[in-house]
Amino acid sequence: MSTSPVIVALDFPDQDTAMALVDGLQPSLCRLKVGKELFTRLGPAFVEKLVGKGFDVFLDLKFHDIPNTVAAACDAAADLGVWMMNVHASGGRKMMETARERLEGKSHRPMLIAVTVLTSLGEEDIHEIGFQGTPGENVLRLAALAESSGLDGVVCSPLEAAAIRSQAGSDFLLVTPGVRPGNAALDDQKRVMTPADAMAAGSNYLVIGRPVTAVPDPLQALKAIMDSLQASSI
Ligand code: C5P
Repeated sequence: MSTSPVIVALDFPDQDTAMALVDGLQPSLCRLKVGKELFTRLGPAFVEKLVGKGFDVFLDLKFHDIPNTVAAACDAAADLGVWMMNVHASGGRKMMETARERLEGKSHRPMLIAVTVLTSLGEEDIHEIGFQGTPGENVLRLAALAESSGLDGVVCSPLEAAAIRSQAGSDFLLVTPGVRPGNAALDDQKRVMTPADAMAAGSNYLVIGRPVTAVPDPLQALKAIMDSLQASSI
């Protein structure tokens, strides 16, 4: 198992491009995130291939369905050997508890985390689907619900990390995308933090895509991120 806090997002449309990147990375330096696009194109065999190469895999499929269906999907994901998976907290307590209980029975129990409010949704959007209050208030409420339903943590913006950390237990995991090294392009991310600042704000794992995947030397970019984290922890 890796000790790296960096999870590289494999946002690629095909296996050859994804594998070309993966073959240049090392499990000791990063974990890998497989999302809906790659999973829908390449399926479970691709995930098993990454696990077979020694990588910890975060299967980012954000399950949201009735409790029995989500629990069965989580069970299937655990059988692939993934290290982490996620569900939508808005699926409710029963859905999260049932998924968590199902994973307890597995010989290898992956981390189960929740998505609170998608960062693509603004205040008007959440009101339109019936939520009250601000996105930030809903993030805190849903993070508390995920924690009291037995989940291991949440995915959140690094800008939300400190507020969630202050209300949650110290072992509740915060997994943050929206991270950019100081010298990297913002791409389509708007509100970002550097890796070191995100960790200082309470993040446990950093989801980083293009600053590693879309540069000429991904391994060098990854090592520079790890160095920046080490320098800030001295
Ligand atoms: O390339 P970049 O570092 O922006 O990639 C970030 C990854 O994190 C992508 O896979 C993206 O879908 C994911 N993500 C995000 N913001 C969220 C949730 C997930 O950027 N709120």
